[in-house]
Amino acid sequence: MDRIAITGGARLHGEIPISGAKNSAIKLMAASLLTDEPLRLTNMPRLADTRFLARLLQRLGTEVIEQDGPDGTETVLHTREIVSAFASYDLVRQMRASFNVLGPLIARTGHAKVSLPGGCTIGARPVDLHLEALRALGASIDLHEGYVYAQAPRGLTGGRIAFPFVSVGATEHAMLAAVLAKGESVLQNAACEPELGDLADCLNAMGAKVSGAGTSTILIQGVDRLHGATHPVIADRIETGTYALAAAMAGGEVRLTRTRCDFIDSLLDKMVEAGVEVTRHADGMTIKRNGARLQAVEIETDPYPGFATDLQAQFMALMTLADGESVIKETIFENRFMHAPELARLGADISVSGGEARVRGVGSLEGAPVMATDLRASVSLVIAALAAGGETTVSRVYHLDRGFERLEEKLGACGADIRRIKGDGEAEE
Ligand code: UD1
Repeated sequence: MDRIAITGGARLHGEIPISGAKNSAIKLMAASLLTDEPLRLTNMPRLADTRFLARLLQRLGTEVIEQDGPDGTETVLHTREIVSAFASYDLVRQMRASFNVLGPLIARTGHAKVSLPGGCTIGARPVDLHLEALRALGASIDLHEGYVYAQAPRGLTGGRIAFPFVSVGATEHAMLAAVLAKGESVLQNAACEPELGDLADCLNAMGAKVSGAGTSTILIQGVDRLHGATHPVIADRIETGTYALAAAMAGGEVRLTRTRCDFIDSLLDKMVEAGVEVTRHADGMTIKRNGARLQAVEIETDPYPGFATDLQAQFMALMTLADGESVIKETIFENRFMHAPELARLGADISVSGGEARVRGVGSLEGAPVMATDLRASVSLVIAALAAGGETTVSRVYHLDRGFERLEEKLGACGADIRRIKGDGEAEE
């Protein structure tokens, strides 16, 4: 298996173009099941997760064409007909969000059999809210042997769905199903993440009638059919925040382009509080640190517009070298501190108790072999390694490949000493 080797100490200078958002792209790809016409997604990231989903969609009947367009990479998805409404455990367990094909399959064909995704390293991650939402839209749902059997032979009907707490995936799933339901649906206590707005924009471009996305109440007027469209995937706010933190950790001056500051306001505010210089631009931001020590600050993860749980591990990496003690509270997932013991291998001083981590800043970090445990945790190790003395090797980088496009190339272009070591031990060219 591949590893990433980083020799710390180099300051970063340059520009990093941000890719399309993984978490948006995979829901937009699922939306292509809702129409028999082509959906063209531009600004598409090329990632292991989008490849997994493309493979599943092909089995369901989607023709998937990846091509270079005038504005970068794009994917055309065309599902003339659904040839199978079955998503196997093998495919869904590789990428949990594959579960979101369930709603579009029921909406388009009236039936589906989709594997339950199971837990993952950051928590149990049940899908009860997804299933309740589909039931509220008139689907009958049975669970047998790890599979969801869903039926709505006369089509879905609009309904009122009041989520007991905010779930990004369940809100998206309800939206994907409700656009073809008969009548009006109301989603209350909906997630407000920018990816919800992106999905609504894409569905509306396909002929859906969705309003209120980005607020806690979303109204959907069902339509009989959707048509093809072209839609650009929004910028990846987690990739943006990750490179902002990488630049702050390594020091230097890095401009992040093709993205938006307002997507990560809560992070940027905390970075400024810690002593990082942030300059906002129309198409991104410049992150600068001249080498002065940072101050410890406290964070608590929350649904958008709060501090993103997907940036918690990366922020913890930054805090390992800050003066003072930083308290980091994780409120979204129950087991999301797996990176703490790995950061400790680099010399960080972190204690974890329940949903809270205390990070006492140390004078320096020292490179060591470490192991990636999940997607965002793995990149926090890369960030820490940029400022650690000597070499760090991160194993299990398939986690990184799920969500970060050309990571070594993007950091390397700014002067980081980072390279991939292929599974056979040979360094990649
Ligand atoms: C999405 C993101 C993930 C991010 C998370 C929170 C994708 C592919 N993934 O995940 O990167 O960390 O939002 O911002 O977009 N829950 C239930 N029952 C449900 C659904 C969720 O109990 O039916 C719980 C989860 O276990 C978790 C919390 O609700 O504790 C929030 O999860 P949710 O917002 O649904 O996250 P995902 O959509 O899975």
